[in-house]
Amino acid sequence: MKVKLAYQLDNELTIKRLGYGTMQLPGPGVWGPAVDEQNAVKVIETVIDHGVNFIDTADAYGPLYANLYLRQALKNRPDSQVVVATKVGFTRQGPGQWTPNGRPEYLRQQVEMNLFSLGLDQLDLLQLHRIDPTIPLADQLGVLAQMQQEGKIKHIGLSQVTVEQLKAAQKIVPIVSVQNRYNLIDRRDEAVLQYAEKHHLAFIPWFPLATGKLTHDSQLTKIAAKYQATPAQIALAWLLQRSDVILPIPGTKSLDHALQNIAAAKLKLSTADFQLLDQLGKQ
Ligand SMILES: NC(=O)c1ccc[n+]([C@@H]2O[C@H](COP(=O)([O-])OP(=O)(O)OC[C@H]3O[C@@H](n4cnc5c(N)ncnc54)[C@H](OP(=O)(O)O)[C@@H]3O)[C@@H](O)[C@H]2O)c1
Repeated sequence: MKVKLAYQLDNELTIKRLGYGTMQLPGPGVWGPAVDEQNAVKVIETVIDHGVNFIDTADAYGPLYANLYLRQALKNRPDSQVVVATKVGFTRQGPGQWTPNGRPEYLRQQVEMNLFSLGLDQLDLLQLHRIDPTIPLADQLGVLAQMQQEGKIKHIGLSQVTVEQLKAAQKIVPIVSVQNRYNLIDRRDEAVLQYAEKHHLAFIPWFPLATGKLTHDSQLTKIAAKYQATPAQIALAWLLQRSDVILPIPGTKSLDHALQNIAAAKLKLSTADFQLLDQLGKQ
């Protein structure tokens, strides 16, 4: 099974498909133990040093701290040319408490704050974290389109949407990507993936390791042994082989896990194992 490891986001931006997500790098606050700042920056620097050039973040991660760690790592790796994908429009009140806020003036502020906290002049990919059902979609995407014209955003993407929402958004502004929950054992958004494939949109699966469940699954462990790999690597290799438009962004605060995840791009599952995993994941 031939797997393309690069994805062309546009004429200039070539993404190596196995990326990194910053959500496992919380700052000090009321939402659980913070990661050590030096460790957080080191993890990001290490993934960059090992060839990752696509990093997903959000203003709500940390909150804010994940962007600050990423800014520091990018500053320490000035020639890295990392494609940064960030998000706005989802506010966070505490553990598990998330509320969309798609008021255009808030989205504008958050785009500016992302630029500032990431130390960038332009955001390569700005994703609307959630569509706010209380605000017209045209208003939410309208302000992002304006900021795109102002040069602050290169590309616009969506997160956790249906095919219908995706189609509605495409009538308002060009959309290059969709970020929905998807992994070996959670394929509820298969239709969105198929739409992305058909229309050449990047599909960025969040929870690629099912928040860690896939890292100690017994059936994956059995298959992993054949490849001298880990279950996490098998889960990521499956995603990479599932579709050329999939850009997995596993999250970790661990240097070892980060390196392990990057190495998954080198794994080639046999057709039989790919199909077996495909079936196992549907059970
Ligand atoms: N758009 C959205 O609404 C949305 C929602 C959630 C997440 N996201 C994005 O998706 C990214 C990935 O999601 P996620 O980080 O929440 O979940 P995930 O990647 O599915 O899993 C992360 C969990 O797996 C563990 N892990 C990672 N690599 C491992 C390995 N090789 N071996 C063993 N354990 C491993 C991590 O623990 P350790 O830290 O101990 O390694 C962590 O507990 C996020 O970072 C974020 O960028 C987007």
